[in-house]
Amino acid sequence: MSGTATNEGISPDSGDGTRAVRAGLPEPVKYEPTLPGPVFAAHFHLPGEPTGPYTYGRDENPTWTHLEHAIGELEAPGQDGVETLVFASGMAAISSVLFSQLRAGDAVVLPGDGYQALPLARAQLEAYGIEVRTAPTASDAQIEVLDGAKLLLIESPSNPGLDVCDIRKLAEAAHARGALVAVDNTLATPLGQRPLALGADFSVASGTKQLTGHGDILLGYVTGRTGEPMTSVRRWRKIVGAIPGPMEAWLAHRSIATLQMRVDRQNATALAVAEALRGRPEVSGLRYPGLPDDPSHKVASLQMRRYGCVVSFTLATRVRAERFLDALRLVDEATSFGGVRSTAERRGRWGGDAVPEGFVRLSVGAEDPEDLVADVLRALEESER
Ligand SMILES: Cc1ncc(COP(=O)(O)O)c(C=O)c1O
Repeated sequence: MSGTATNEGISPDSGDGTRAVRAGLPEPVKYEPTLPGPVFAAHFHLPGEPTGPYTYGRDENPTWTHLEHAIGELEAPGQDGVETLVFASGMAAISSVLFSQLRAGDAVVLPGDGYQALPLARAQLEAYGIEVRTAPTASDAQIEVLDGAKLLLIESPSNPGLDVCDIRKLAEAAHARGALVAVDNTLATPLGQRPLALGADFSVASGTKQLTGHGDILLGYVTGRTGEPMTSVRRWRKIVGAIPGPMEAWLAHRSIATLQMRVDRQNATALAVAEALRGRPEVSGLRYPGLPDDPSHKVASLQMRRYGCVVSFTLATRVRAERFLDALRLVDEATSFGGVRSTAERRGRWGGDAVPEGFVRLSVGAEDPEDLVADVLRALEESER
């Protein structure tokens, strides 16, 4: 039921804006709204035999169904036999894949440089008797440690280092060894990258970031081909109950209507900011996969349609980075990324990433590009004093 595209008016070849505004909309019903409002229900009327689709609120909800259709249409346009499941957060979605697919004695390959909650998942997997191997994202280093693994989790581009790996090549290598492949698509969004078309079995993501883009909801999802692995993921969602509230699901769906406009604006401005930072003497280690001379660009340009809204770079010291963040007027100092309001943080303050003390992750929002570039350059200069 969930996530199989049903929006018949829209062709998979329609433009991204057209597909985003219409994604997941049900067939029009006279006197009903275009996007039905959130359905608040712990249970549904259910006389007689307890057959679905809607029985109990932890298992299914009509508001999720619309959202799951929307995400599925964007992740795998025109692909039949694909389903999407929404979750309470990105970590709920990623954990559902890890913990539903792996058993004691299995081996899994995780990114060594991925999102900073992955080490927590690693410790838990190891406590359950699962062997965890890690490899850096750059240079497709995962291939070296794939033998005998049951699952490969790729994060590309990686957060916060913005390295990229060759998803198609890694998926082929993993499948040749009998391993499933999950790709964390958070940074790219489904308009930037389609992991299933590149050969992955699952696209997993935090919808908290650019997918929903307003910094006001937590959400996650898993898209995958219909079959046993997705059935296990669904079962896992039911067991742990890591479900989104109907209001969050509805807000997410409403936000997806503007996804193409937001990503095009934010990503173009991210490139403008990266270009403005390039060559600045105070800045080292500048990374943006859309910059033609970025180490990730060659592979990224083969598999990504858009390069994301995150730019990272390093200032000489922790104090310099703190002064820079303090001097910014249009950029909020906050964690997370992808929102319409720019945010930045000194990533080292959390202690979980292997980054220099002066490393800054900047998430570019929907402000006017000239204003944002001017603010960043002014803050750079002011932070010198
Ligand atoms: C790449 C990536 N994956 C997963 C997550 C986790 O998402 P959530 O915070 O929605 O659980 C994050 C959060 O920053 C992330 O950056």
